[in-house]
Amino acid sequence: MTNKDFLWWRDGIIYQIYPRSFADSNNDGIGDLPGILSKLDYLSDLGVDAIWLSPIFPSPDVDFGYDVADYTGIDPKFGTMQDFEALVKAAKKRGMHIILDLVLNHTSDQHPWFVESRKSRENPYHDWYLWQDPQPNGDPPNNWQAIFGGSAWEFDQDRGQYYYHMFYKEQPDLNWRNPQVRAAMLDVFRFWLKKGVDGFRLDVFNAYFKDSDLKDNPSQFGIRAFDRQKHIYDVSQPEMYPLLEDIRAILDKRKNTYAVGETFLATPEQAASYCGDDKLHAAFNFAFAENRWHPKRFQRSACQWYEALSDDAWPNNFLSNHDMQRTATRYCFGEDDRRAKVAAALLLTLKGTPFMYYGEEIGLRDIPIRSKADVKDPTGKTFWPLYKGRDGCRAPMQWDDQPHAGFSQTEPWLPVHANFTHRNVAQQQVDPNSLLNFVKQLIQVRKAEPALQRGDFQPLVKDPRFILSFLRTYEGEQVLVVLNFSSRQLFYDMPDGAWTSLFGTTDSNSEFIALAPYDVRLFKQAA
Ligand code: NOJ
Repeated sequence: MTNKDFLWWRDGIIYQIYPRSFADSNNDGIGDLPGILSKLDYLSDLGVDAIWLSPIFPSPDVDFGYDVADYTGIDPKFGTMQDFEALVKAAKKRGMHIILDLVLNHTSDQHPWFVESRKSRENPYHDWYLWQDPQPNGDPPNNWQAIFGGSAWEFDQDRGQYYYHMFYKEQPDLNWRNPQVRAAMLDVFRFWLKKGVDGFRLDVFNAYFKDSDLKDNPSQFGIRAFDRQKHIYDVSQPEMYPLLEDIRAILDKRKNTYAVGETFLATPEQAASYCGDDKLHAAFNFAFAENRWHPKRFQRSACQWYEALSDDAWPNNFLSNHDMQRTATRYCFGEDDRRAKVAAALLLTLKGTPFMYYGEEIGLRDIPIRSKADVKDPTGKTFWPLYKGRDGCRAPMQWDDQPHAGFSQTEPWLPVHANFTHRNVAQQQVDPNSLLNFVKQLIQVRKAEPALQRGDFQPLVKDPRFILSFLRTYEGEQVLVVLNFSSRQLFYDMPDGAWTSLFGTTDSNSEFIALAPYDVRLFKQAA
């Protein structure tokens, strides 16, 4: 079987890079585009098909790039537009695609649109953001809270009005009901498509629209003020659906483009409702990534995800990103990588496009955050010590055992994990049993087997306790995946048929096989 119908965003591997932390070419302590360029061969050798870059646009970095001050520029700390063009070209040469992270729900308060908008109620940009008069007693227009703490309404003395921000007050939300805003944003897609970008990750896209009557959210039980509300009126409004159709029409003008949405505060069913032929190609399923270490839980949330998606939508799966604790930190004990191998195998064999977060392939652990004074992420400062923020999962990539882990020749913006002397790319490349080599080999198997890329999914046990086993079937070929989630040696009854080993220990086939603790085994049979 040839793999002639390979479609990059469905069958390939998508790798998320947090540019500040991947590779620093100019030794200022912050990663940059030439740094990423210098690592493209590493990524291509790993088997990556597309790179999602967290925001690279000019930003005052209140939220490290998620507060954009210019949607069509490159922040000088990351390089120049020429550097970006060179990256796109070099990626294409290697058959790799670039996905940009578009943060279109809000801008930075330094964006010229907001600078103008806050000047007066007569300004041409006066209606580009969500401005409201105070209530007669001076209070904010309603009870909506910012997820980053406090009321979502900030009073502006000059305008004598409140503006709305779902995140920090330095991230004012745009007024997507204003046709000029909508047109400007659609132009952002066109701009980057022309530059050769093939896909977009849409930051909190289902928050673009809020209830037009600004109704109060009802309350519920929760710890933080934000969690004590049901978010009925500040996210997921119906206007999003026709907008997605407009966005998709722009993307579809070029073949094989892609959009994946970060569904914010959404159930898998809500996330799925945004996906399809005339909507997004995909959305993220947070419920899957939030599972405890138990095969039943992963299986259930995978099945729930597949069931929720309509036939014209394709699932994706992720376990880590720049907002959450890393996979290895969550599931592994100390420096033991065995669970990280099972987790990687899960990601690479389940139905759905695997998204890997930089360093996941070498089992990066979160850096410890010890004192409030060291915290860079403002959410950590706001909620300390209840929540220490997201610095832990954003630390520099560990390339080798040189000072600063080969990330930079100077002190990086966040400290390198102390384990870099033994946990790094160079070391894992020469260790045949490393997580890196495990991931690489598994990606090769996946690439050779269309059933692993686009096959149907059929779990073999209803509520597995220790072993997750499932079939992936495509055009008459079947791959059997067996993952031992436990630290015990176990026996596994093989399903009927003649199976040949694809990955893991080869044993002469019998009715059952012996699984080592945390074993990962793949078999194939012609159906
Ligand atoms: C979601 C992003 O993933 C997160 O990093 C950011 O802080 C918020 N959106 C605000 O843009």
